[in-house]
Amino acid sequence: MSPKDRTRAQRREAQEPTELSNPVPWPVAVIAVGFILWGFWYYFQNVGYPAMAGDRRSAIVIDPSASFDGSVVYAGNCAACHQGNGKGLAGVFPPLAGSEWVLENEDRLVQILLHGINGEIEVAGVTYQGVMPAFPQLADGELAAVLSFIRSEWGNTATPIATAAVEAGRQRFPDRDGPWQGGAELNEAFPPES
Ligand code: HEC
Repeated sequence: MSPKDRTRAQRREAQEPTELSNPVPWPVAVIAVGFILWGFWYYFQNVGYPAMAGDRRSAIVIDPSASFDGSVVYAGNCAACHQGNGKGLAGVFPPLAGSEWVLENEDRLVQILLHGINGEIEVAGVTYQGVMPAFPQLADGELAAVLSFIRSEWGNTATPIATAAVEAGRQRFPDRDGPWQGGAELNEAFPPES
């Protein structure tokens, strides 16, 4: 390549780039600073409040007219103690199958579920000394369904319990807080027919 050709080639080359003074346009800077300040404000506004995330719907309000499957209510709330076969656990959880508390006075049965029992209770000739939790959180329809279920399962043949009976039972002992003190107190409130 001749020297003449070389200078021609050099002339063809573009200029080396140099950095120009090119500041961020001031409106963009103002917006960016604005966002940063808004972020701080938002953060401190929300300190101590639960995050606005997840499913924040409140609990389902149970439709009082809905119908319930007593066997499902039983499996979810009772079977852990009274067992799937309704026979309970010897010496610990009394049986519901063949129990006079299940088969006899239905108002008394409703009260057992609404308030629970804490004290000595004799079931089918055996004395138990345990704690039966109360289930006031279940809807009237659910309680009626589970009570009707335990009265008709495992050879039990007692009449079903209506939702209205549970509803009435809730109004019956408004001053009671705490469980029934065993079979003795239940018998006092519901004297056995002699
Ligand atoms: C945590 C265990 C537990 C659960 C859950 C439980 N029970 Fe009981 N239940 C007991 C115990 C213990 C007793 C006996 C109470 C005592 O000894 O004072 C009892 C007693 C009873 C009685 C009267 C005695 C009898 O055997 O007939 C009935 C009726 C009864 N439960 C029904 C139910 C129903 C219906 C459910 C579900 C909605 C339920 N229980 C859930 C432990 C439980």
